[in-house]
Amino acid sequence: MTTRRLPGTAPSSTPSAADAVTEPIVEFADVTPYESYVGVRQLQALVRPVTDHPAEPAFLVVTQVMELWFTLLRREWERAQRELRADDLDGAIAALHRSVHHLRSLDASWQSLLWLTPTEFNGFREQLGEASGFQSYEYRHVEFLLGLKAESVLRPHKALPAVYADLQRALAAPTLEDDVLAYLARRGLPVPADVLDRDRAVTHEPHPAVTDLWVGVYRDPRPGNDLFVLGEALTDVAEAFGSWRQRHVTAVRRAMGAKPGSGGSAGLAWLERSAARVVFPDLWAARTVV
Ligand code: HEM
Repeated sequence: MTTRRLPGTAPSSTPSAADAVTEPIVEFADVTPYESYVGVRQLQALVRPVTDHPAEPAFLVVTQVMELWFTLLRREWERAQRELRADDLDGAIAALHRSVHHLRSLDASWQSLLWLTPTEFNGFREQLGEASGFQSYEYRHVEFLLGLKAESVLRPHKALPAVYADLQRALAAPTLEDDVLAYLARRGLPVPADVLDRDRAVTHEPHPAVTDLWVGVYRDPRPGNDLFVLGEALTDVAEAFGSWRQRHVTAVRRAMGAKPGSGGSAGLAWLERSAARVVFPDLWAARTVV
């Protein structure tokens, strides 16, 4: 593990009984270590509403906060992939469990926008021009890791070459599910070769042999069955992500009804179709068979 020491921080010493209730440090030669670490000024500088409408700051901040959750999810799932590749199932499950908590917090962030009425949204919507969450590249990384792949969603990002190249790499890279299936194959489970060699740039489709494999795992739904624990962690991820997408649809319905989206789509109807795409389809299909 790599660490970096922040300016103004000394190695921690073991507290003795005598200084058990010491007061916090209030003198610093430079900016506080907290500021150095968190970068509050940089964060605040990024909150730049484009109107004076009182509803806009909440809309902007919630959007920015959600972007940070996307980044955190990406880190957790990329870590889970590395752990799986190293055959460290416990490490992968720990990352998946953390990510479920992050997903639930991401989902809860919608609460901060549920008061947004169409009249208030109209008060600043025009000024957003064609800006839309559809153009979130961090969200695309989240979708790609979950197996929802599409080349078309890369196109808006051509003007940012590093972002575009990163998305191209992610499109062709294994998803979380690809790494899970490769791990299961190494554990001796019968994962078909065409599944292991699938075209990674397309969305996962259910496969009868993979569904059967999960059916076998779910016949022993106890904590001691580590593959069952893995299956449940992945199901929690899929459910919490689905919940975020459904709440987005609801937030859209509340804030703008069936008007077209600022990103050029039909709006609600388009989003409902997009949100219906299934993450980890074999895990869900297995529940019908068990
Ligand atoms: C109530 C406020 C919001 C409304 C009315 C709204 C509306 C929409 C609409 C209409 C679309 C479809 C594309 C388009 O034509 O624009 C969309 C897509 C999207 N929005 Fe929002 N949105 C809201 C809040 C947010 C927030 C806070 C985020 C967080 C980043 C977000 C992220 C996304 C994403 C990721 C997509 C693409 C979804 C997909 O590809 O399936 N939206 N939004």
